[in-house]
Amino acid sequence: MPNNVQIRLASRPKGMPTEETFSVVEAQVPTPGPGEVLVKTLYLSVDPYMRGRMSDAKSYVPPFVVGDVLTGGVVGQVVESHNDKFHVGEFVLGELGWQHYNLSSGRLTKLNADLAPLTAYLGVLGMPGMTAYFGLLDIGRPKAGETVVVSGAAGAVGSLVGQIAKLKGCRVVGIAGSDDKNRYLESELGFDATINYKTVDSLRKAVAAACPEGVDVYFDNVGGDITDAVFLHLNDFSRVALCGQIAGYNAEKVEMGPRLLSQLLIHRVLLKGFIVSDYHADYGKAAVEMAGWLKEGKLKYKETIVDGLEHAPQAFLGLFRGDNIGKQLVRVAMPE
Ligand SMILES: NC(=O)c1ccc[n+]([C@@H]2O[C@H](COP(=O)([O-])OP(=O)(O)OC[C@H]3O[C@@H](n4cnc5c(N)ncnc54)[C@H](OP(=O)(O)O)[C@@H]3O)[C@@H](O)[C@H]2O)c1
Repeated sequence: MPNNVQIRLASRPKGMPTEETFSVVEAQVPTPGPGEVLVKTLYLSVDPYMRGRMSDAKSYVPPFVVGDVLTGGVVGQVVESHNDKFHVGEFVLGELGWQHYNLSSGRLTKLNADLAPLTAYLGVLGMPGMTAYFGLLDIGRPKAGETVVVSGAAGAVGSLVGQIAKLKGCRVVGIAGSDDKNRYLESELGFDATINYKTVDSLRKAVAAACPEGVDVYFDNVGGDITDAVFLHLNDFSRVALCGQIAGYNAEKVEMGPRLLSQLLIHRVLLKGFIVSDYHADYGKAAVEMAGWLKEGKLKYKETIVDGLEHAPQAFLGLFRGDNIGKQLVRVAMPE
């Protein structure tokens, strides 16, 4: 068996992580003990929240430990099993390490590769899909005819939020960082209007022009200047689903922006932060509905796939440059 290449956290980054944040180490492939399975990594997910875990600030998940293998969502294949519930050849999803081989005591979900491509379980039918579904429907509560604005619109979560809002009969405005992304959102996903936040002269005027009747639901993936601009156009009784603040994840100091809470007061806005795992008990129901929309062609998705475990750090850093359209994944190996 080949050696087990691993990506570890070498040091806690200050500001934007760099290649020095990570180390590539070769270790022995572990041998499964009683009750354990050995899982070969096929795909791993890189996600913006991992930036938070690289710091030791208090959060809703414990920080990564310096020197340890990084972990995240992994789709893999069982290559050796001493656990009655899992058999060699089966595909599984788990919270596993950025390495070629992981030992697991069985906290894994079996995947059916005939129902959906394996990668979908890390994207549209996985954590990002659940985030879009519950954040929009439970917090945003969009009604037909309303205007929904989503930032980070061309990413894994945002691209699904916009499509689900269209399915609910809304006018959808996406904010993303390139004209190519915006063309994709309008021509392939049916967004009604888009804004390139990197090239507009005034975000505030751009939101006003794209939302002549104001904003009823704002799904916030990014925070910062984009959110300040959207807040100025929130309608009475509008809802804000506070999903992510990627614009600030690498900030060394909390940025002080315009203080816009009075907008929320004046317009009686409901703003709620959420973590997708809050909805864990209902994932099954949501996945069935999302899978149905996929099958009917009502929901589309894209993936940006980087090849090779050793490129996982670059794939992760690319999230902050906007390299990805749709879900960013790393292909580590092909199924056996
Ligand atoms: N609350 C939860 O439970 C939960 C769960 C999953 C994800 N999230 C959050 O949701 C957001 C989207 O996650 P995702 O997995 O779908 O990632 P993603 O949108 O696929 O990838 C990140 C995207 O963010 C954009 N971005 C990066 N830096 C930015 C900046 N300074 N200002 C504006 N946009 C920037 C980039 O697109 P552009 O080219 O458009 O800049 C990039 O492609 C993240 O904030 C993430 O932390 C929250």
